[in-house]
Amino acid sequence: MKRIYLDHNSTTPIRPEVIKIAEPFITNFYGNPSSVHSFGRETREAIENSRIKIASTINASDPNEIFFTSGGTESDNLAIRGVFNNQESKSHIITTQIEHNAVLDTCNHLSSERSLEVTYIKPDKDGLVSSKRIKDAVKKNTKLISVILGNNEIGTIQPISEISTFCKNLGILFHTDAVQAVGKMKIDVQKDNIDLLSGSGHKINAPKGIGFLYARKNTPLNAILTGGGQEQNIRSGTENVAGIVALGEACKILDTEGNELWGNVLKLRDRLENEICEKIPDVEIIGHKTQRLPGTSNIAFSNAEGETLLIRLDLEGIAVSTGAACSSGSTEPSHVLLSMDLPQNLVRGSLRFSLGWGSTDEDIDYLMDKLPSAVKKVREIAPKN
Ligand SMILES: Cc1ncc(COP(=O)(O)O)c(C=O)c1O
Repeated sequence: MKRIYLDHNSTTPIRPEVIKIAEPFITNFYGNPSSVHSFGRETREAIENSRIKIASTINASDPNEIFFTSGGTESDNLAIRGVFNNQESKSHIITTQIEHNAVLDTCNHLSSERSLEVTYIKPDKDGLVSSKRIKDAVKKNTKLISVILGNNEIGTIQPISEISTFCKNLGILFHTDAVQAVGKMKIDVQKDNIDLLSGSGHKINAPKGIGFLYARKNTPLNAILTGGGQEQNIRSGTENVAGIVALGEACKILDTEGNELWGNVLKLRDRLENEICEKIPDVEIIGHKTQRLPGTSNIAFSNAEGETLLIRLDLEGIAVSTGAACSSGSTEPSHVLLSMDLPQNLVRGSLRFSLGWGSTDEDIDYLMDKLPSAVKKVREIAPKN
């Protein structure tokens, strides 16, 4: 049976060039980068080269503004907890209802553990959060605003430069979870006035378990892990050298090949959406039509159970997802779709197709060969209400 992977927002395959450059740091170059001897110096050099590559991808002014972490979840935690670690309670944070749980749950925890006040801004029906709504929610004690850049479920891209500009004028820190956006769109932390930005390797063809936090120089940030004082005392723990080298290379590749790659992915996604809308009745594309990550397509099949459809497609060798696949196999309706006030019928029948490096026209041919009949069958057995 053919196997077709249309779940790149969940995770991605590692590119061979990335494996090639990282492998020696699993085998031959094993020195601890904190060691003074030559074994340590060679891994230290590799880390610093990678820091330069990542800084260049997001146009950070100084590579030392990049802090390596274990992934997007830790970067989000470090950004938010790190700002509030030594804060008096009663500080206020504004975020959105469509964040990944790495941000939402961190804010929830801080609100219950530390009496932090949190405002969750609702998006519109396209999943766009208006900068005006955010501005209207600002209070005297607002310390941080955190807004996801490209949404993992629907792909909608938020107007972050509008938000970060008023943050700068009001002296409020601005964080963006860019885990789905890094390498897929132009990001300029200087031009866009971003203070804190989270990224993750496994969304861009590097391995799992490596990520980074960009923190603009002089951003007041406290460590959330204590120990050996690595990463300028912000993130203790011996560095994941192979992962760091891989992440740097993945960013470098996207800096040069990204335009062409995402242009092709966008064409494939448009083809997928056009054919689904043509061949299957009662479907709706969810998310913003144009302000959207190139590989993301969230489609609601009314009167069908998304979970059942996912399993049917899996039996045909096709991998897609419902809701956020990274929330540990959750079958709860997606908090993102619910916040957009979509009818239950659409929320229940939604599937996320996400394309990326390695996706081909043959993948779409195969999908379109199997999907219409799968939807028909799933609709026949769906509970009528
Ligand atoms: C938007 C977003 N933020 C954070 C994360 C968590 O990243 P990681 O899996 O690297 O911890 C994900 C993962 O799906 C994500 O999509």
